[in-house]
Amino acid sequence: MRFVDFFSRQARKPRGLFGRFFMSKVFDKGNAELNALTLATLPLRDNARVLEIGSGTGALIEQLAGRPAVGLVEGVDFSKPMTAIARKRNREAIKMGRVRIHLGDFDATPFEPDAFDAIASVNTVYFWSKPAETMARIYELLRPGGAAIIGFHEKSDMERMPLDRDIFRYYSVEDMAALFADSANFRNIRTASEEGTGKTCYCALGFK
Ligand SMILES: C[S@@+](CC[C@H](N)C(=O)[O-])C[C@H]1O[C@@H](n2cnc3c(N)ncnc32)[C@H](O)[C@@H]1O
Repeated sequence: MRFVDFFSRQARKPRGLFGRFFMSKVFDKGNAELNALTLATLPLRDNARVLEIGSGTGALIEQLAGRPAVGLVEGVDFSKPMTAIARKRNREAIKMGRVRIHLGDFDATPFEPDAFDAIASVNTVYFWSKPAETMARIYELLRPGGAAIIGFHEKSDMERMPLDRDIFRYYSVEDMAALFADSANFRNIRTASEEGTGKTCYCALGFK
């Protein structure tokens, strides 16, 4: 297997020692700016219940759980090494009942409808095989007035990276707005952006 294919598969679902020790570092360093923009953009009401899809090493969860406004933060990730790292990183908050981390595919993990004030996903949308269905499910799980936020890098920046196009699906800002608009009744759809190191960071946002 070519390294580009191997790396792309690991980015989609980190596995084994390479996932645990190498991809975790790649995520923590490479996704920090996008996580920061997501945190700054996410509207949070008091005692908010927040879900992160593809929570990786749990870095955003840790920052969210540190916000006094947040009541409960949940993460779902189908990678065993990532889930183990995220649980270790957030062990005190898990003990306090402020964080829960689920091992599983978001599309197959049961959550109640109208349960969340906010649902975030950072650098993970590229891997969704049925993005419209996943967005429709996000809509269903949000309480009325709740917000979905997708952190991503735009197609033209992603195209410059050596990644496997069979694994990564790229989105322009317009593609992402259309994904929100066409998959469910999201309203007030908008995009925030900030220049990052080498790539622009984008957060697309929509409300139920
Ligand atoms: C590129 S990493 C991003 C991790 C984290 N959001 C961050 O910014 O550091 C993508 C993560 O999403 C997870 N993932 C991808 N598709 C998923 C799915 N359908 N359900 C649950 N987790 C998923 C992977 O296991 C991986 O940990």
